[in-house]
Amino acid sequence: MCGIIGYTGKRQAAPILLDGLKMLEYRGYDSSGIAVSENGGISMTKAKGRLDNLVKLTDGGKSARGTMGIGHTRWATHGEPSDVNSHPHIGEKGNFALVHNGIIENYLDIRAFLCAKGFTFRSQTDTEAVVQLLEYYYKGDVKEAIAKTLNKLRGSYALGILTRFDPDTFYAVRKDSPLVIGLGDGENFIASDMPAVLKYTHDFILPEDGDIAVISPTKVELFNRNGETVEHKPFKVDWDVESAEKGGFPHFMLKEIHEQPKALEQTLLPRFDGYSVKSDGIEFSKEYLGALKKIFIVACGSSYHAAMVGKYFIERNCRISTEVDLASEFRYRSPVLDENTLTVVISQSGETADTIAAMRDAKAHCSRVLAIVNVVGSTIAREADDVLYTRAGPEIAVATTKGYTTQVATLMLLGLFIADATKSMSKALYEKYVDELKALPAAVQRVLDENVEALQKLAYDYFAFDKTFFIGRGMDYALALEGALKLKEISYIHAESYAAGELKHGTISLIEKGSPVIACATGEELFEKTLSNIKEVRSRGASVIALVKEGREKTMGAEAQHVVSLPALSDEMMPCVAAAALQLFAYYVAAAKSCDIDKPRNLAKAVTVE
Ligand code: G6P
Repeated sequence: MCGIIGYTGKRQAAPILLDGLKMLEYRGYDSSGIAVSENGGISMTKAKGRLDNLVKLTDGGKSARGTMGIGHTRWATHGEPSDVNSHPHIGEKGNFALVHNGIIENYLDIRAFLCAKGFTFRSQTDTEAVVQLLEYYYKGDVKEAIAKTLNKLRGSYALGILTRFDPDTFYAVRKDSPLVIGLGDGENFIASDMPAVLKYTHDFILPEDGDIAVISPTKVELFNRNGETVEHKPFKVDWDVESAEKGGFPHFMLKEIHEQPKALEQTLLPRFDGYSVKSDGIEFSKEYLGALKKIFIVACGSSYHAAMVGKYFIERNCRISTEVDLASEFRYRSPVLDENTLTVVISQSGETADTIAAMRDAKAHCSRVLAIVNVVGSTIAREADDVLYTRAGPEIAVATTKGYTTQVATLMLLGLFIADATKSMSKALYEKYVDELKALPAAVQRVLDENVEALQKLAYDYFAFDKTFFIGRGMDYALALEGALKLKEISYIHAESYAAGELKHGTISLIEKGSPVIACATGEELFEKTLSNIKEVRSRGASVIALVKEGREKTMGAEAQHVVSLPALSDEMMPCVAAAALQLFAYYVAAAKSCDIDKPRNLAKAVTVE
């Protein structure tokens, strides 16, 4: 949601800004703009719609000649997507221009205050209040004006600020919205996330909430609001440039689906030392685990579906009561939290506003918070008591794929780690899981190697439907939820996911001749029961695609029109294995419908507003 980029150096800024915005497109947006320092002033170009409109308007960036600038992709919150509401916004005196990600909650009060002082506003945005406030407070010292402005703001923000006074120095601040500073050689950057500038640098600084960063081509200085210098150690990311590019695939999503075996290897293999699971420095004392009454796993979207798989695994194998919550619901339902509860928050981006809020709430109620996160240094990673990184590498497509499967794998690691410490699992079962987790990347690779053609063909048979049903039991129900979400997100086909046993309590009334039902029957334990549910929909005319373990093809073949056979691992591993097939199915359906797969309408990769 909203992407920010900023550059100062020796090169022409605009092409670099446009390039960075391209890399941020996946975050979701409906307009874009850039501002460049030129001839002692600030020149600005903004355009509603796709980034290409801005590229055309600026002749690929050639029309703006300056070497410092800021850029933005806007996902509308306050005011419709339009040229005037697009960022950057410029103050009425023309001294400041800024880009903003986040929401200023008290913007109406600020507007009223400034209008009373004679300011006029052009846009409907909350952001314009910030730039006008800067104009109001500016009395010759930019840093002071920024500090005074920040003191008045309520809400969340990452800001990139250009001034008319500094030809090569710009400013950046953040609070509860993502922002990184990229360090180059004679040039420096800001961006909403690292992949946007990986082409130029692998060295980053993460400003803390409330820091004011002063960025010139050769120097990055950080100050707190009292004007005192603060230091943050730069760090290097080992993500390669290719990981943020399509690498010959037509879409990032397809590339990321195919990256899963490698991603899972990175998640899993370095975490094993023989049969013991390395804890990445997390220590649960005997006393803590002995007193642990409950685990809450809290997340949004696909991360929530991963959480459901984790619940089944942990509860069953660690014998600790585990509840799963949507982050947006968690804190409003007053969960019983204390020092004897562990809250596990899961987030690919580490920046999802609802998950951040839930994490803070859990901490405020004395619950220890462990985060399962992909993006290094993200807000959740920084604020949680403990972090397990999923190590999936950058994920660009809005619909998560490798982000999800690596979350599931990390939850298994966590489960094994707790089970080992509490001795809740038999040695034989524990070792079986370890062996299977080690084999998981190869199993997912097999799914990708063996099923592409068949799934592509199935997708062509099914892409014209406007509704589908996904069913499953136990972990297969969690899988069904994720499979349905993938299809909805990218193909816009309505997909209803249902616990198979619950169908007959309502949803079965929707089944008619030809209704597509995707049945997840990968678990052995509940196979017979799911089969009965499949018979129920078949006898009402449904057209069934079933996912099963190898060996079950014949039994299922008697009921389903299409059977997708998957490598046979323990039931617990199947959500990861089968997810790859469901992702491919959703991908090819969306491709058959010529959808904008990497950037589905209305969706954003990191949902930074509640
Ligand atoms: C958005 C994305 C989903 C993702 C969800 C949670 O809705 O489109 O793919 O699952 O946010 O994101 P997180 O970064 O917290 O895992």
